[in-house]
Amino acid sequence: MTLIEKLYPVMKPWLFRLDAERAHTLTVKMMIMAHKVGMLKSVVSGPQQPRSVMGLTFPNVLGLAAGMDKSASAVEAWGALGFGSVEVGTLTPRPQPGNPKPRLFRLPEHQALINRMGFNNPGIQSAVKKLRNRRTKAVVGVNIGKNFDTPNEDAVKDYLICLKAAYSVADYIAVNISSPNTKGLRDLQAEGAVRDLISSLKKEQAALKQEHGKTVPLLVKIAPDLNDMQIEALARVFNEQNIDGVIATNTTIDRESVAGHRLANEGGGLSGAPVRERSTLVLQAFRMLLKEQIPLIGVGGILCGADAAEKLKLGASLVQVYSGLVYRGPGLVREVLETVK
Ligand SMILES: Cc1cc2nc3c(=O)[nH]c(=O)nc-3n(C[C@H](O)[C@H](O)[C@H](O)COP(=O)(O)O)c2cc1C
Repeated sequence: MTLIEKLYPVMKPWLFRLDAERAHTLTVKMMIMAHKVGMLKSVVSGPQQPRSVMGLTFPNVLGLAAGMDKSASAVEAWGALGFGSVEVGTLTPRPQPGNPKPRLFRLPEHQALINRMGFNNPGIQSAVKKLRNRRTKAVVGVNIGKNFDTPNEDAVKDYLICLKAAYSVADYIAVNISSPNTKGLRDLQAEGAVRDLISSLKKEQAALKQEHGKTVPLLVKIAPDLNDMQIEALARVFNEQNIDGVIATNTTIDRESVAGHRLANEGGGLSGAPVRERSTLVLQAFRMLLKEQIPLIGVGGILCGADAAEKLKLGASLVQVYSGLVYRGPGLVREVLETVK
């Protein structure tokens, strides 16, 4: 067991006494420091099992989900810990502060989080600068969105700005149209809106491919709160537009599974164990509807190795975690990688 794995259970009670966002900021700072002084050892021992997906070689199947490293300031540290990929962001064209605090809450009884961060981020250019000189074996995805004050009619422009800015530094780009914390964002999942958005981005991707001489896959991240008709419509668009991959899923606005909890009615997206089942159902539905060559990344409620194995069995080519890392610490990375070996 590495030092960081031993330390996390000792530190967790202290961290959980702090406000959730404060604890998050502190943990990431400590990770960066530990990496700088060479204290951060990979939890991965022995040979890795690389996966080739979308023309990229992922050192292993486990990725860090978007939102943990919104500013792309710790990609080396996450890679050093053992993650095969790191999805930074969501990044928007202009920097923005996000929603007023408090905006992140723990529901330990449910191994869950509720967040309404609202895309607090330093802007796409700042992240691009940081990623230019990165030194990590991990695949780096850049998750992009629109500014909170950009009307939906102009949303395509925001995504295009981010795509163009990030193309040269990203291994893949994730188009986030599923955060519940930016007003109207999820409306971009409607068939007409998503078709307009994806076709514009695919056109730009083709132009950028010529300019840069490399293909950067374009993925879409979707919500778990979609009915069958919405899922079918989205799959139709993804197939017709030849999207390079789909990330299922973001957080849920449904509160049924945490009803009665004192924080259940906090606004925002619920993540962790309560979203797992719905997330996996959506993943399975897309696997059935999407063309075989379109891969899926499974995310939502992975709290142990078996949860990750289930998503991989039911159609995911890769998996990601966020809330599980808060509750389980770096031990989760080892457990997932040992389970799916
Ligand atoms: C505090 C917090 C912030 C998040 N921020 C983002 C974000 O900026 N962009 C995004 O696409 N997903 C974001 N997510 C969603 C996660 O990437 C993930 O899809 C979701 O939490 C489900 O996975 P989990 O159950 O492992 O947490 C965020 C989640 C949390 C808890």
